[in-house]
Amino acid sequence: MNSEELRSKYIEFFVRHGHARIEGKSLIPENDPTVLFTTAGMHPLVPYLLGEPHPAGTRLVDYQKCIRTGDIDSVGDSSHLTFFEMLGNWSLGDYFKDGAIKMSFEFLTSPEWLGIPLEKLGVTVFAGDENAPRDEESAAAWKGLGIPPERIRYRPKEDNWWGPAGSTGPCGPDSEMFYDIGKEPCGPDCGPGCSCGKWLEIWNDVFMQYNKTEDGAYEPLARKCVDTGMGIERTVTILNGKKSVYDTEIFTPIISAVMSVMNPGGYTYGDDDRRDRSIRIICDHVRSSTFVLGDPKALSPSNVGAGYVLRRLIRRAVRHGRKLGIESLVPVAQAVVDKFTGPYPELAANRDSILGELRREEEKFLETLQKGEHEFEKLLPNLLKDPKKLMSGRLAFKLYDTYGFPIELTEEVALERGLRVNRAEFDEAFKKHQELSKAQGGQVFKGGLVDQGEMAVKYHTATHLLHRALRMVLGDHVAQRGSNITAERMRFDFSHPAPMTVQELKKVEDIVNGQIAQDLPVTMEVMSLDKALAAGAIALFGEKYESQVKVYTVGKSSADFFSKEVCGGPHVERTGGMGRFKIQKEQSSSAGVRRIRAVLEPAG
Ligand code: ALA
Repeated sequence: MNSEELRSKYIEFFVRHGHARIEGKSLIPENDPTVLFTTAGMHPLVPYLLGEPHPAGTRLVDYQKCIRTGDIDSVGDSSHLTFFEMLGNWSLGDYFKDGAIKMSFEFLTSPEWLGIPLEKLGVTVFAGDENAPRDEESAAAWKGLGIPPERIRYRPKEDNWWGPAGSTGPCGPDSEMFYDIGKEPCGPDCGPGCSCGKWLEIWNDVFMQYNKTEDGAYEPLARKCVDTGMGIERTVTILNGKKSVYDTEIFTPIISAVMSVMNPGGYTYGDDDRRDRSIRIICDHVRSSTFVLGDPKALSPSNVGAGYVLRRLIRRAVRHGRKLGIESLVPVAQAVVDKFTGPYPELAANRDSILGELRREEEKFLETLQKGEHEFEKLLPNLLKDPKKLMSGRLAFKLYDTYGFPIELTEEVALERGLRVNRAEFDEAFKKHQELSKAQGGQVFKGGLVDQGEMAVKYHTATHLLHRALRMVLGDHVAQRGSNITAERMRFDFSHPAPMTVQELKKVEDIVNGQIAQDLPVTMEVMSLDKALAAGAIALFGEKYESQVKVYTVGKSSADFFSKEVCGGPHVERTGGMGRFKIQKEQSSSAGVRRIRAVLEPAG
């Protein structure tokens, strides 16, 4: 049974049992600050599990793309993944334990569906605690279907309770289904739920009965629900008797793509443990990255939040790619698009941006990496002299600060040389640095903390040039609504009622580049807000200012200027070295507000 058959059988089975098929959702959760990615099929359904009526009814089924990064460091072994697909069916106040278990049992054992022999199946149910009683109801349901008592195990909350992805939300006891691979039991207590490797979990039925609140209380839900989850990768592995998910058809074309770009070529997967591990890391990380970059709510690699996770995934894959002589991972991402675009058509639709973003991040990182690794190698002889084999956190911070070498990577490289990194010291240095830049930059720069990096400073100045150019081209109604700067790009939100035309965009670009080409001086004066406004400075509408403000002027003199803004800075001293300003995207941000994303490219 391959993944495609499993996906469609599952959907078909539950549709036959009265479920409405719904679409899986974005990997980037909607309005949920508690998690960076969608971590389970239930995640997009939380409001409905808590009581809201779902437009499709009370019985739902779907498949959902998920990312969990908790075990990211274990990826590379034969089982861990960051991206996976989850099949799920839901009852919103419809059937409960008995109904869910009967359907799970039929799908697992009926020859028409998965056809797993009864003697291969074992289950666990919740043992009970102060929050919820022992789950005799589920145990009785399983027994009634023919599962013998010794293969029904009661397990505590750590094992048989589904908690919310964040800290609050719907939760309850669960009943998990396991497949016995036929190994000898590890001891007299070995049974379903045992972690010795004999019992492999294939499905989880959660009985959502409570809402865990901010203060940690379990409030009973007015309407009891069922949430189930079956991991596609795991189940396909088990059903095909494979030892590893990487040995299934899910990964075959991706592994082939990796091998086809290895240099020297001619390698056979399975020949060498170290190389195989790198191949698996590349497969998993590129698969996850491709799905994030190809998501309808795609984000770019960055230094915060989900963007940082994406950056870490790509960069770790690139580093392992280099060990295998791989120049670019683009063909691997291409293979991921081809393999999964059937169930996820957004991948082919976004192919160009997926491959383009990946390529850009690769190039950026390769540069960083070469510098950082070179530096690391130079430090190594001294580091290895340390009897404790401990690399100082300050040094790790220097690699991060100067070369953009992510701490996780420093740790990994260090570990390969038998060194550990003093992480506590690194964290300390990192925090100090943040506080320092806060104190130096002083003010919050129009909504975001000042990033003191050289590129970020250039982008601050480019923001002023853009703001003024937009007013020249579109009119004085243009007002800044938001700004977000990273070392890689700038984003600028402004009030304007309609999409900009290609001509307008071109004009704005030309004006900004014209000011850069003139190599204008940028000067700063401190004055009262009234005086600044009288001198023609732009200030942010609705912003609270001190009585004395900093005013930045771009232009030949304080009277003959191109742009004047009240702003905390910092800015470049002259516009000459900023590079070439390029608008990458202009789109709607919210009603009446447009968003421009732009970059400064190296000139010439
Ligand atoms: N939400 C449950 C899980 O992910 C079904 O295991």
